[in-house]
Amino acid sequence: MLKLNKLAKNNFLSSFDISTREALDILELANNFKNKDLKFDFNNKVLGLVFDKSSTRTRVSFQVAMSRLGGSTIDLNPSTSQIGRGEPIKDTARVLSKYCDVIAIRTFNHSDLEEYAKWSTKPVINALTDLEHPCQALADYLTIKEEFSDFKNVVLTFIGDGNNVANSLILCGSLLGVEVRIACPRGYEPSSWVINKARKIYKNKDLLKITNDLYTAVSGANVLYTDVWSSMGEENQKEEKEKHFNGFTIDTELVNKADKDAIILHCLPAYRSKEITDEVFESKKSRIFEQAENRLHVQQALLASLLSGENI
Ligand code: CP
Ligand code: NVA
Repeated sequence: MLKLNKLAKNNFLSSFDISTREALDILELANNFKNKDLKFDFNNKVLGLVFDKSSTRTRVSFQVAMSRLGGSTIDLNPSTSQIGRGEPIKDTARVLSKYCDVIAIRTFNHSDLEEYAKWSTKPVINALTDLEHPCQALADYLTIKEEFSDFKNVVLTFIGDGNNVANSLILCGSLLGVEVRIACPRGYEPSSWVINKARKIYKNKDLLKITNDLYTAVSGANVLYTDVWSSMGEENQKEEKEKHFNGFTIDTELVNKADKDAIILHCLPAYRSKEITDEVFESKKSRIFEQAENRLHVQQALLASLLSGENI
């Protein structure tokens, strides 16, 4: 029998919704899902997927995770449900929580996700908002833990836009005590709400560094991480952002400034020759597809932790 501890909070809207202990427990459980034949039976449990933006990894990993746990999913496409017609979130959330046992939502405004959570009586998971991507960060830190065994002395440098992915890397990194450096063009720094939260968790240990100086940020780093320059919803800023991010590509020259055993991560999808060169993407240092695989194991662990509390 495996004892699963239910998370203290009912929802996972932010990396900050879990404690350090809970983050470590989810990573451990995800590792067990990956490497052991864990048997769970969440028979009859249903996960609703409300995706206002496109997705490959998050959607499919949630579907497969739920299926492996013995449950099922419903894909609630906003364009074919009443969501796309503008039914109020508070009505949709109350209805969906009568049918589903847990709901994963990908949307634009973080406040819309919070509105769902306010009205839902079932757990709500952040499957990406403009502010955060907390499920991604858990999979990223699982990949880092697999590589370096623990988080002691690990330096993660994120190069790119200080938005959802960077924000969650910072928050989750602060819970796990990882030194996080963000290198971005001026004006693309992470959310100040996130920076302040993280600094409190780090207890002023000076482990969070935000800089516009790429080479300082990369020097000696163990993990180089990047994301697209223009996120979903920013399609009309593509040209302008490409100009601003010029010089922030992870290429071999930059990789050579990092620690000699550094690994490369990317949440995907990737745009070669923009945020990363094909040479680095395909290099031996890349753990990008291990990272993508880990989305599945982390979703299983997260769903099990949110749905459980019982001996399984
Ligand atoms: N990394 C990630 O969330 O990918 P998708 O947009 O394909 O879900
Ligand atoms: N920052 C990207 C992440 C995609 C997984 C976006 O929001 O589009």
